[in-house]
Amino acid sequence: MPDGDNVQSGKGAGIGTPQKSDGYFLKGASNLDWGMKDRLSRIFNPKSGRTVMLAFDHGYIMGPTTGLERMDLSIVPLIEYADCIMCTRGTLRQVVPPTFNKPVSLRFSAGTTILTSLNDECIMDIQEASRLNASMLAVMVAIGDAEHEAVTIRNLTKTVDIGTQYGIPTLGVNAVGKELKRDARYLALAARVVAENGANVVKTYYCDDDFEQVTNACPVPIVIAGGKKLPEKEALEMAYKAVSQGARGVDMGRNIFQSDSPVGMMLAVKEIVHNNEKPDKALQLYNDYKNGKH
Ligand code: 5RP
Repeated sequence: MPDGDNVQSGKGAGIGTPQKSDGYFLKGASNLDWGMKDRLSRIFNPKSGRTVMLAFDHGYIMGPTTGLERMDLSIVPLIEYADCIMCTRGTLRQVVPPTFNKPVSLRFSAGTTILTSLNDECIMDIQEASRLNASMLAVMVAIGDAEHEAVTIRNLTKTVDIGTQYGIPTLGVNAVGKELKRDARYLALAARVVAENGANVVKTYYCDDDFEQVTNACPVPIVIAGGKKLPEKEALEMAYKAVSQGARGVDMGRNIFQSDSPVGMMLAVKEIVHNNEKPDKALQLYNDYKNGKH
């Protein structure tokens, strides 16, 4: 039994040293609860304040996308290099070994595919997300899509409500229809709407002109999607420009898993995102890895 005499010795107990009260490293997150912050700190590296997320949720709207036909062969070997993985619950249970201990940005909305009209979505059960130990809930939001904007904003709102109850942050994924122009004006509006509706992180696309206006006017961290496969040099330049202009990382899929050397690409993108490496040096790292020089 501990004896009660030493409850307050007064010696070495920190008297005279004010208790530290640290801020939090991610914008828009200072007032969140402990569980939310812990989950966000698993996704974003607290040292760099950034993240390299690996996205392989494409199949839920696109079917067996090139590079994702056999995720046990193409994706599982990449997981160890990612800061966070983004996928559906189907893929998690069917393919992803539960031994990696990587935070999961779980695809929380589900709906129509490329064969019909995309974005007519519903959301999953929060208990399912909790069972799967999700660190973030990813929900599609189609700003400017006359048919589906309302339903996707309702999904975002419900996700933020329930995610807040469970201490799980929400990632609002800006779905940009083909008819919409991916310029700074649109992307800034869409990102801001998603953040104002409570998303803790926003995923959007990079744009060549004025991307800084998008990150500047978004009160929560932005991660960029990679989009269609580009030559490696261009993809690395895009990642570099995005983080230099305020993005807190990438949530990349095709530009990683459709690359000739997916691991080389992961390593190169990580160097850019976490160490501010220049694109030409990162490309060299990629080529060295691809050519077996590592
Ligand atoms: C689609 C998504 C994908 O995860 C996203 O587009 C990232 O992949 P890519 O870098 O291939 O664009 O949110 O639902």
